[in-house]
Amino acid sequence: MTAAPVDLRSDTVTRPSPGMRRAMAEAEVGDDVLDRDPTTRRLEQRVAELLGTGDALFFPSGTQANQTGVALLTRPGTELLLEADAHLVHYEQAGVAANWGVQIRPIATPDGLLTGERLQAAFRAPSPHVPRAGAVAAENTHNAAGGKVMPPAVMDGIVAAAAAAGQRVHLDGARLWNAAVALGVPPARLARGAATVMVSFSKGLGCPVGSCLAFAGEERERALAIRRRLGGGMRQSGILTAAALYALDHNLIRLEEDHDNARRLAELLSDCPTVRPSVPETNIVMLDLVRDGATSQAVVPQLAQAGVLVVSFGPRRLRAVTHLDVSRREIERAAQLIVTALR
Ligand SMILES: Cc1ncc(COP(=O)(O)O)c(C=O)c1O
Repeated sequence: MTAAPVDLRSDTVTRPSPGMRRAMAEAEVGDDVLDRDPTTRRLEQRVAELLGTGDALFFPSGTQANQTGVALLTRPGTELLLEADAHLVHYEQAGVAANWGVQIRPIATPDGLLTGERLQAAFRAPSPHVPRAGAVAAENTHNAAGGKVMPPAVMDGIVAAAAAAGQRVHLDGARLWNAAVALGVPPARLARGAATVMVSFSKGLGCPVGSCLAFAGEERERALAIRRRLGGGMRQSGILTAAALYALDHNLIRLEEDHDNARRLAELLSDCPTVRPSVPETNIVMLDLVRDGATSQAVVPQLAQAGVLVVSFGPRRLRAVTHLDVSRREIERAAQLIVTALR
């Protein structure tokens, strides 16, 4: 019997564990749209506490929560300033333009790290000829920059530069949990100063579905209305939020294992003549193809054939993500298979 492939395409490929499924099956539920689901309300309050915000709202996806965050902070005809390779730029179907009439204003950086200085330089001088800024978005960790962590001081700089320009900040924290673990600081420290914060449960935490958007308490009614407009009102959502509560109790503390595994993968590939691994800060390793003529388009299926699943992240760049369904042994096997397949 051949072994199952090692699936490193994303930290979203995890299957709910037996313990998580049990928690979901046993969840206390109610109609969340009519009169609040008690388990969902518990999760929202817990997330608001973890992030140091007044309140939070559960969403089916990070994309919908990001879109709602931007809607809360902007007006049509304004610009959203953010790092040029942010998720909101590339992977949300131009949602802020299509949904809210907001223009993306990408800020190119050499390393994926938006800073206060870079943001300050990007603000336009007020003029009747140019669009007004509407809000700023930051991403921590930064997916396209290989799971790069934004330290608290950098976030403080962004918040300060935004405030000086009269702007508020949305934080896309799909993997904020990973950043907090990598830095050894509470998630609330990394969210400080942000007006809206998105966090996901369906990535490193192993849930089947779900994100939260956190915000100041007085924003709840507007956030509920926007979620409703996007079709995000859910009924017995406690089935899903029980999984998220279970994940906060059981899976948050083990994220360091994923970071160790990412480092191990990069270390095992460091002598490989055909790929150059990034130095992972969290659970993402970028692999640059260094052999002449090698392309992601050709190499991704070649690796799949060999038993390792990764995704393309550019013409000559692959992304491998560690997660709770891949063990240290599988990581070591994956490294061996990559070295052999690309020899
Ligand atoms: C940084 C970032 N933001 C937002 C999202 C969107 O989350 P979802 O897939 O739940 O819509 C993702 C998904 O991978 C992400 O990596």
